[in-house]
Amino acid sequence: MGVIVDKVADLKKIIQNLKHEGKSIGFVPTMGALHKGHISLVERCVADNDITVVSIFVNPTQFNDKNDLKNYPRMPERDIPMLEAAGVDIVFMPTEQEIYPEPDTRVFDFGMLDKVMEGKFRPGHFNGVAQVVSKLFDIVAPHRAYFGQKDYQQLAIIRAMVRMLGYTIEIVGCPIVREPDGLAMSSRNLLLSPEHRKSAPLIHKTLAEARNKTHELSVKEMILWVVNQVNADPNLKVEYFELADANTLLPVESWDHPNGIIGCIAVWAGNIRLIDNMMFK
Ligand code: PAJ
Repeated sequence: MGVIVDKVADLKKIIQNLKHEGKSIGFVPTMGALHKGHISLVERCVADNDITVVSIFVNPTQFNDKNDLKNYPRMPERDIPMLEAAGVDIVFMPTEQEIYPEPDTRVFDFGMLDKVMEGKFRPGHFNGVAQVVSKLFDIVAPHRAYFGQKDYQQLAIIRAMVRMLGYTIEIVGCPIVREPDGLAMSSRNLLLSPEHRKSAPLIHKTLAEARNKTHELSVKEMILWVVNQVNADPNLKVEYFELADANTLLPVESWDHPNGIIGCIAVWAGNIRLIDNMMFK
């Protein structure tokens, strides 16, 4: 049976004792409204570590849109049994006051990493992510932490933050888990209307098709093709689609690129914003 902890001081004490016993600590940070994507991270964590800690905290500093924060699904009574079933040892569910006893005024500089794509369209978002994840890392002090490739840019920023702040935490990236129709699982999928939910799989379908067209289309043509293909559904509106260097996330000019190429997309389905990505090369 796992335990639920809501106080920073209590969690620190528990972790300290476990470390004294020589246990390895794995950590999965989440904002709750859990689905199989989250659970895949948890299962990997349980397999790799003696102790698995999962946090559920809807972090206000990473929401650049007040309505998004207000509407973000919260369902701890459903989340906790899912975590129990997956073999989680500790669920950390702090209040805002526990995490931010005082406003966090830290500003991180990730260079270009947080200026492109999500960073461009959600100003301040990644600064908020770095604020909360660094605080959680300080509290949990895990040996390993697990993040999904669904949020590809977030994963890149967490890796950069770990290098910048000198954490000795191993960051483990985990593959995207999808619905049977291809839609990337997301807590925000719960907020889609039935019509928008029906349209949303077109995002993944388009990326999967696009990946087979790199011999036919230039990078520029491909971007247009993907945007037009998704926008052809009146329920969907592309905010951006970019083909970027898999490490620097800067846009690529051609397919003849020395590093991997990642295709990242953000799409509005009504007033719900969905993201997805796929390796192109
Ligand atoms: P949240 O959106 O709850 O996601 C928690 C973790 O689950 C993230 O690492 C995310 O990439 C991963 N995840 C979400 N959907 C996934 C899917 N379909 N397949 C695989 N992994 C998936 O990301 C956050 O919360 C927050 O920004 C957080 C890191 C917790 C900081 O507040």
